Amino acid sequence: MTARIAGQLALVTGASAGIGEAIARRMARDGANLVLWARRSDRLAQLAEEIASTTGANVQTCVVDVRDHEAVVAEADRLMAVTGAPDIVINNAGLAAGMALVQDADVDDWNRMIDTNVKGLLFVTRAFLPAMIARDSGHVVNIGSIAGRQVYPGGSVYCASKYAVQALTEGSNLDVLGTGVRVSGVNPGMVETEFSLVRFGGDAARARAVYEGTHPLQPEDVAEVVSFVLNAPPHINVADVIVLSNSQGSIHHIHRDGG
Ligand SMILES: NC(=O)c1ccc[n+]([C@@H]2O[C@H](COP(=O)([O-])OP(=O)(O)OC[C@H]3O[C@@H](n4cnc5c(N)ncnc54)[C@H](OP(=O)(O)O)[C@@H]3O)[C@@H](O)[C@H]2O)c1
Repeated sequence: MTARIAGQLALVTGASAGIGEAIARRMARDGANLVLWARRSDRLAQLAEEIASTTGANVQTCVVDVRDHEAVVAEADRLMAVTGAPDIVINNAGLAAGMALVQDADVDDWNRMIDTNVKGLLFVTRAFLPAMIARDSGHVVNIGSIAGRQVYPGGSVYCASKYAVQALTEGSNLDVLGTGVRVSGVNPGMVETEFSLVRFGGDAARARAVYEGTHPLQPEDVAEVVSFVLNAPPHINVADVIVLSNSQGSIHHIHRDGG
């Protein structure tokens, strides 16, 4: 059966790795054409070539740091002048930086998380939403987290940024009420990506330990759920999804083999 999003134009932020990369691959399999944004151009180029050659999708890439408001607006305007507004925007770019307690934390880490996860998501949404509303169609999917529902020691600011994403998803959805635009939130639990490697500044052993003995979600699992959300009929908004591996009960309850 042809997916509903076949032929649509979908933009993904943070498409160079992990969940964003898997969503890009999945949407191309569903027949969408892609615009991929991230900071690492080599990764984007490699992914675009692979997706285009395996699926026949039209794939454009652009180096955009979502923290850079001017760059986001310039690139969004350039894209829209050529293609019109994307049908789909996936706000996925994000990170955790460190796991220090509030009283010990590095302020630069706070800035990276808040600027990327909160302000970056807002900049991208603000750049495309007016054209989506004018066209009376569009779907924005914000990748939040279970960390937007529960907090843990050393996670205050990352969690705060994801609580903010939750509020922004709900609030934007109210703001577009009565238009043909939908805003959905997909909120994963633990997913095995480069997330922990980034969080711990490249410390591979510490990152590996996060996933040891458990069976976390894979990025493709999240992409599967995003595909379900995107392919719902236009009169349905799957507004809010929490997706956990069956090894995770809450942010504090993770089953580990032998545990
Ligand atoms: N992994 C988990 O357990 C988990 C759970 C729940 C939610 N999430 C959320 O899922 C999203 C994706 O994370 P992931 O697990 O896939 O991590 P990842 O493998 O580290 O991928 C993060 C992506 O975000 C991009 N990115 C980071 N900062 C950016 C910026 N300033 N501008 C543009 N792109 C930027 C990175 O690309 P460049 O470095 O090339 O820019 C990369 O493509 C994040 O929002 C994260 O908070 C993750």
